[in-house]
Parts: sequence; C-alpha cells; structure tokens
Amino acid sequence: SARAVLPPDIRAMKGVAPIVVLTAYTTPVARLVDPHCDVVLVGDSLGMVLHGLPSTLGVTMEMMILHGRAVVRGASKAMVVIDMPFGSYEESPQQAFRNASRLMAETGAVAVKLEGGVHMAETIAFLTARSVPVMAHIGLTPQSVNTLGGYKVVGRADEAEKVMEDARAAQAAGAFSVVLEKVPEGLAARISQQLDIPTIGIGAGVHCDGQVLVVDDMLGLFTEFRPKFVKRYAELGRTADEAIAAYAADVRARQFPAPEHAFADSLPKAGG
Ligand code: KIV
Ligand code: NA
Repeated sequence: SARAVLPPDIRAMKGVAPIVVLTAYTTPVARLVDPHCDVVLVGDSLGMVLHGLPSTLGVTMEMMILHGRAVVRGASKAMVVIDMPFGSYEESPQQAFRNASRLMAETGAVAVKLEGGVHMAETIAFLTARSVPVMAHIGLTPQSVNTLGGYKVVGRADEAEKVMEDARAAQAAGAFSVVLEKVPEGLAARISQQLDIPTIGIGAGVHCDGQVLVVDDMLGLFTEFRPKFVKRYAELGRTADEAIAAYAADVRARQFPAPEHAFADSLPKAGG
C-alpha cells in the first residue's frame, strides 16, 4: 500500500489540489470516507452529533480517545487529525503537550487540532517543537460559544483584521494548516492568499485551500439544526426513518420475520 499521508504532504497540497476533509467518529464511517479524503477529522462535534450534548463543551479526553481509536482502525489511506477537547489545552503549553501526546499515543492519530490563533500561538509553538503537528481552528470557534454569544459569522467589518492576525499567528507558531469556520468569503480568500499553509474552510467560501464538513450533516443524518454552510448530499435520516417505520409495521402485522429468516426444527438433509 502507499506511504501514509503526513502533515508535510497536506501542507504541500496548497496551490496544487484542493484538500478534502470530512469528520468521522466510528470505524464504519471512517472506512466510508477514507478512500475519498485526504484528512479524516475526529471532531469534538461528536459530542453534539453522537452524544446529544448541547455544545462541544462537555466533550472529554476519554470520549475523544474512544472515538479516535475507532476512526484510526477504519482509516488506511487518509491522515487522521483529532480535536483537543475543551479544557484539555488552554491552561498551559505543558498541559496541552501532556494531553496532545496522550491523544496521539492512545489513538494513533497523526496530528491534533485546537481552537485559537494569537492567544494559542505559544502553545502551538510548544507542541510543534515537540513533534506534535497542529492544525489550528479560527474564526467561529465553537468551544467559545459562551463568550462569543452564539454561532455567528466571525470576521465582518473591524473583526476582519483580528481573524487575519489569528491566521498569521497560527502559521508563525508552526501550524501545518488552519481551519476557517464561518468567516466571510472575501476575508477567507485573502487569508488563503496571504498564508503559506493551507486553509481548510467550513462556511468560509470556495477560495479556501480545502473544505471540511461534518459527515452526519452532509449525509442528512444529523438534522437537529442545519447551518447555511451545510450542503446535504444525501437524506440518510429520512431513508432510515422510512426503513424503521416499515420494520415496525411488519412486526405489528406479523409480516416479519418471513420463513426465510427463520430456522427449521430439523437439520436440512445432506446434499439437499
Ligand atoms: O468538531 C468538528 O467537527 C470540527 C470541524 C467542523 C472543523 O471542528
Ligand atoms: Na471541533
């Protein structure tokens, strides 16, 4: 099989080919996305998508490790990046290293992602100097929902220069790429043009160097709410609802199981 994809390969894709990223949280979904993606992200969105949490703030190291292990088992081609959960890196560069190295060692993920630019630059530099590749995440940073005051666009008007500074700080600190979430498209284009490292957009327009979506969103499996930036490539939630309704109706009508799903009382005759 081909050599593993590593952060320098992702960085080298800038200006060559758009970088394709999707989330995965389980082995079967990792197997589905792996052949088509450059990067598979074990996002802390799993707290909301899989565990029914109201935000990503309640996601723990243990949850990330359990799902990270499952994803690494299912990904043979794409590079696996894992989110650092809220509270696992903000205190100090040392705390961040302790938890980042644990995420990598216990899951086999190749790199970590953390939220923040200027205020996380020291931590990003500390990690990259100690062999932890870092993907930064700026613009709308969902772990800061309570201080930001909601999931709003970040970087309009006088906020634009702050997002640009976050991008520059992440690059200067050694991040190998940066996620831009819910950033106006013109600003995202300017950041992508001015940085040497690739930008991965989510709700940041078509001029980013790559794109990421939450896989359950684009498959129509997670339907609690639907951000404007999500394109539904399938309606698997509706398909599943129809299948489950048909099963329930069959059971109530004694139409399931049919004889072919049941076992005879005596063994079939040999050769018969
Ligand atoms: O947690 C997540 O899924 C993410 C992506 C949406 C970028 O951080
Ligand atoms: Na995340």
